[in-house]
Amino acid sequence: MLREAVRLGSLTTLGVGGAADEFHAPETVEQVLDVVADCRRRGVPWRVLGRGSNLVVDDAGVRGAVLHTRALRELRIETEGRVVAGAGLPTSVLLQRATAAGLGGLESLVGYPATIGGAARMNAGGRWGEVGERIEAVQVVRCDGTWARVPVSECDFGYRTSALGGSFVVAVELRLPSVDVETYRGRTARIQAEKAAVQPLGERSAGCMFRNPEGASAGRVVDELGLKGLRRGDAQVSTRHGNFLVNRGAARSADVLRVIDAVRSAVARELGIELVQEVEVWR
Ligand code: FAD
Ligand code: EPU
Repeated sequence: MLREAVRLGSLTTLGVGGAADEFHAPETVEQVLDVVADCRRRGVPWRVLGRGSNLVVDDAGVRGAVLHTRALRELRIETEGRVVAGAGLPTSVLLQRATAAGLGGLESLVGYPATIGGAARMNAGGRWGEVGERIEAVQVVRCDGTWARVPVSECDFGYRTSALGGSFVVAVELRLPSVDVETYRGRTARIQAEKAAVQPLGERSAGCMFRNPEGASAGRVVDELGLKGLRRGDAQVSTRHGNFLVNRGAARSADVLRVIDAVRSAVARELGIELVQEVEVWR
């Protein structure tokens, strides 16, 4: 279960970053309970890694333990649209399997790489809804080492936020509506195509750098200030969408942070808007 010196960059979509002090990939909820209890006993801080699609990891690596969810990918499709997914299940697999079973309602997850655990933690989504709208409860291991079932009423889902930070989400319980499979497939394909037309989906990125400010679009603001294409080393503001930062090859975390700072400073200076970072920086 324990592996040392795993370069985290290779486990993220941006592809930047060094190793964690400790790396674990628990295979069962019991193993999650064990590793959390062990970290607690030793005073080692830990964090959870899903698909790594919202992260910038420091080149110098990460202090403490990183607990990867990749082995927790069980999927149960029950009756009446009830679905229970292990935290590490890729959302693309969830979409595919749920659709094949005649279940829809997951438009919010189309078009980007994630795990269902990471998506729940971030309440991921956008114009086509947020995943929290389909969640009934989340099963977690809390930082005090106890297991709990958190009903949606206590998840506090907001715009890319939830009350799940600090816990290890081990499984997500969803309730999905029945759909006509062909019509639904057409709908999700259209969403995918609409995103691909404006976002740099074929390139290495961590999605949007910033949250949208109230009533505005961070991408449009960056575009209007002429900041698309701004580059430091191999980190660059996408020439396609102003809120995406892409890795042109061998970007370092310092380059990525310089681009984020340059954009934030320019937007504050020119427009008086303080952009709030959406991507998380791990060090
Ligand atoms: P990670 O990046 O691994 O982690 C993100 C955060 O969640 C971290 O704090 C991590 O500790 C925590 N976390 C992960 N798993 C767990 C768990 N099991 N328990 C507790 N905490 C956990 N996001 C959107 O919302 N909408 C979009 O349209 C969108 N488009 C994107 C397009 C591209 C091309 C890319 C690369 C990213 C995009 N994103 C988008 C961002 C990202 O995909 C989402 O934030 C996604 O939900 C992150 O999931 P993950 O599994 O990769 O989490
Ligand atoms: N726009 C520009 N120039 C750009 C980018 C956008 O003018 O370079 C304009 C667009 O033409 C559009 C408006 O800005 O009129 C909004 O753009 P878009 O439709 O691309 O949506 P967004 O607000 O930039 C949000 C989410 C995305 C999500 C999309 C679609 C945030 C920060 N971003 O983007 O989520 O995919 O809606 O639902 O909320 C993410 O969170 O990582 C992410 C990619």
